[in-house]
Amino acid sequence: MSSQDEGAEARRPEIAGNPVRGVGPNGTPIWYISRNADVHDVLACRFASSDPSRPGFPEPEDLQARTPFLIELDAPRHAQLRRLVLPEFGTRPVKLLEPLLQASAEQLIADMCASGPKADLREAFAKPLASLAICHLLAVPAADGPLLSGFAETLANDGDVEAQGEALAAVTAYMEQFVSGRIARPSTDLFGRLAGGALKEGQITREELVALSILLLMAGHDTNAKMILLGVGTLLDHPAARERVINDPTAAYAAVDELIRLHSIANDDGFRVATADIDVGGIVIPAGEGIVPLSRQANHDPAVFCNPSDFDIDRNTNRHLGFGFGPHLCLGRQLARATQVIAYRSLFGSIRELRRADGEKLIVTGWVLTK
Ligand code: HEM
Repeated sequence: MSSQDEGAEARRPEIAGNPVRGVGPNGTPIWYISRNADVHDVLACRFASSDPSRPGFPEPEDLQARTPFLIELDAPRHAQLRRLVLPEFGTRPVKLLEPLLQASAEQLIADMCASGPKADLREAFAKPLASLAICHLLAVPAADGPLLSGFAETLANDGDVEAQGEALAAVTAYMEQFVSGRIARPSTDLFGRLAGGALKEGQITREELVALSILLLMAGHDTNAKMILLGVGTLLDHPAARERVINDPTAAYAAVDELIRLHSIANDDGFRVATADIDVGGIVIPAGEGIVPLSRQANHDPAVFCNPSDFDIDRNTNRHLGFGFGPHLCLGRQLARATQVIAYRSLFGSIRELRRADGEKLIVTGWVLTK
């Protein structure tokens, strides 16, 4: 991909097989990108901005009134802030969390079984486990998990703008207080260290610290919980893969990435706007026009994934885009992977007879637990 010279203007098509040009809610042009290679190119392109306040952004937002989230920033500020937290989300810190995650999963399963034989897997297992994972990593009190989980669910639900505004205000107030506590009493956890170090040294402002804490907290809740449920559903339908997940941690990690590819739950994320004319697969996207990378289509591109609708834990998933790609590649992907591996292995390992209640399809509630 490259920035185009003015001569490229003449070649610009209005509609093309791929990418396809459509019209956004405000009548602005939006390009839909679906080929795996093209989505990789767009997400890695420095002329594809994540800043929703730029004209032409597919879902524009006025950022005058609040501090932008990390995911809404472009280079160089994005890279500067991301660098401050990157080490905390690597394989090692997540590995250190695993015993705590394992104990949390086992406790939730024991509680479900104690109140069984039926349980709502979403409320009793997926949501609290996803919540505990991010609360442990950020050192937010685990007891506040249900409250925070509720905010995350509301924010992820596009339907109710008013409720979303209220949830954002509530989580902002919560994190303002949390960050103030860390500033007053620096501690050894992530935000304690940021408050005692980067904040004091002027590498991050107090407002940016609060915005970062909100994003990390919210991004870690709903996605992970949703994915655990979908993963349990798919593994219930694939007994051979399920056995391998129970017995072999390597197979479990392979299954997790294949589940992320297959379900592509972050399909609606990753809007961009072109800041220069950019060439995507031989088609020029003009500066100022919106871009929607369709990660579900890219994750089901038959040129890369053979029989893409099949769940196949032996396939090579290296090219999947379920965690994004490029500068905004999901920060929490190691945490998400570890949480899901623990969720599936603990659940299917300890409840061998787990099945859906009432013969429902891929559902999120009403599972029969049989010890
Ligand atoms: C199955 C679970 C998850 C999925 C499918 C997922 C997916 C994604 C995707 C697709 C992006 C890129 C968005 C873009 O390019 O605009 C992203 C970014 C991000 N994710 Fe996740 N995510 C998951 C779990 C988590 C967790 C557990 C955390 C919490 C720590 C997290 C934190 C983030 C953050 C902070 C970003 C923004 C990174 C940046 O802008 O530099 N995610 N995620």
